[in-house]
Amino acid sequence: MMRKSILTLAAVILTTTAAHAAEKINMDTAKRQAAICTSCHFFNEAEGTKVGPNLYGVLGRKAGTKEGFMYSDAMKAQKFKWDKKRLDKWLTNPKAMVPGTKMSYPGTDKPEIRKNIIAWVESVTTPPKKSKK
Ligand code: HEC
Repeated sequence: MMRKSILTLAAVILTTTAAHAAEKINMDTAKRQAAICTSCHFFNEAEGTKVGPNLYGVLGRKAGTKEGFMYSDAMKAQKFKWDKKRLDKWLTNPKAMVPGTKMSYPGTDKPEIRKNIIAWVESVTTPPKKSKK
């Protein structure tokens, strides 16, 4: 009896956590929080290079490989492909993740803001065919 109620409790906690994780992101807020990125990056394929590389299709792309942009040696030396986890680490502290990078955005220690920015980046840079939505 006791055991069963503990299991039920565990199930309730798990369900609540899952619901929390699936919480909807407010894209208007996210877009506002990502405005700082747009001062240095274009996110639309046609717009080309700004202060930083064009970020269209960045998820799944190898770091430091967007044509037409002069990356730092530090970024060119990276061997990974961008995914959401790496973006999160990057936006926490770019210079800690890639020492010597020339991206001067300092990062944010607020996980909620990073989550929103990453969701917005994904929504505007993912080519239609690869979209999971
Ligand atoms: C002050 C200008 C500036 C701001 C603001 C800025 N970036 Fe950057 N970003 C750069 C530069 C410059 C690079 C190239 C870094 C290098 O070569 O070391 C870069 C590189 C990147 C890369 C790696 C791209 C690749 O092809 O490997 C990502 C991803 C990125 N920025 C995302 C963002 C996001 C998201 C934001 C907003 C939170 C942001 N950046 C804000 C200038 C900026």
